[in-house]
Amino acid sequence: MITVHTIAELREHVRNARMSGKRIGFVPTMGNLHAGHISLVDRANAETDYVVSSIFVNPLQFNDKTDLQRYPRTLPQDQEKLAAADCDLLFAPDVDEMYPNGQDEQSIVHVPVVSEGLCGGSRPGHFDGVSTVVTKLFNQVLPDAAFFGEKDFQQVAVIKKMVNDLCIPVEVVTVPTARAEDGLALSSRNGYLTDEERQLATGLYKTLNEIADALNAGESLENSLSAASLRLEERGFRPDYVEVRSATDLSPAVSGVAEVVILGAAFLGNARLIDNLVVTLNRGIV
Ligand code: PAF
Repeated sequence: MITVHTIAELREHVRNARMSGKRIGFVPTMGNLHAGHISLVDRANAETDYVVSSIFVNPLQFNDKTDLQRYPRTLPQDQEKLAAADCDLLFAPDVDEMYPNGQDEQSIVHVPVVSEGLCGGSRPGHFDGVSTVVTKLFNQVLPDAAFFGEKDFQQVAVIKKMVNDLCIPVEVVTVPTARAEDGLALSSRNGYLTDEERQLATGLYKTLNEIADALNAGESLENSLSAASLRLEERGFRPDYVEVRSATDLSPAVSGVAEVVILGAAFLGNARLIDNLVVTLNRGIV
C-alpha cells in the first residue's frame, strides 16, 4: 500500500489506476481503525478494483474542541491494518492540505432537513462539516463507489441526499454495522470507555431492541420511547436522544409506518455512543 499526503500525489495514483481500466472504490475515515472500518475496505475490494482510503480527522465536523483534541490519532497502526486488508492507496492529508485558506473561508455544503435533529440537533454544524469534507474528498479521489458504515445512519442519509441533489457521480454503498460479540457497535469512541463502562455499553443496543419489541407488542411510540430513556438511565447512560424515524428518508415515523429505524445516542462516562436498529414492525407504528 502506498501512503500519500498531498492531493496532487493522490490524483496521480488514482489517474494511473483509472487509465489501466480499474474501478475506483473509496473508504473515507478519520483513522483509529477497527474491524468496522476494515469491513468497509473488504466490501470495497469485493466491488471495485482499486481501493483508496483516507484518514483525516476533520476539524470542521467537531463542534466541541476538546473532542477534536482528544480524538485518537494512530496513523502507523492504521497503515498496517489497511495494508493487511489490501487497501491500495492511503490518502492522509494534514489540515492545511484540506483547508489551505483556513476553515473560516471554506465554502460549506449544507444538506437541509435530513441533517437536522438527531445527531445534527445535538452537534450543531456537525453535518455541514461532514458533507463539506466528503464533497472535497469525492472531488479529490473521484471514486466510482464510496463505502460508509450503517452505524452512522444519519450520516449516510445526509451523504446520499447530497450526492443525489448535487449530481455527484458516486455510488454510495452502505455496509452493515460491525458489532462485538455482546452486540456493541464497533466505534473509535469505545476506546474512551473504562472496563466497567465497556461491560455496560451494550445496554444502548439492548434498549433499541426493547423499543422494537414494545412497538411490535402494540405499545404506543410515546410510551416505548419514555420507557427506553428510563432504561438507559438505569443502565448507567445519560441519554442524548432516542427516536423512531422512517427508515427510507428519516422523516418522523407517523402512525401506520412499518419500515423504521430506531436511533439512539447516549453518554457513558466520557464517551458519546450512537447506534441504530432498522426493523419492519409487524403492525406499524400505532
Ligand atoms: O464517518 C467518519 O469517519 C467521518 O464522518 C467521515 C465520513 C470520514 C468524514 O470525515
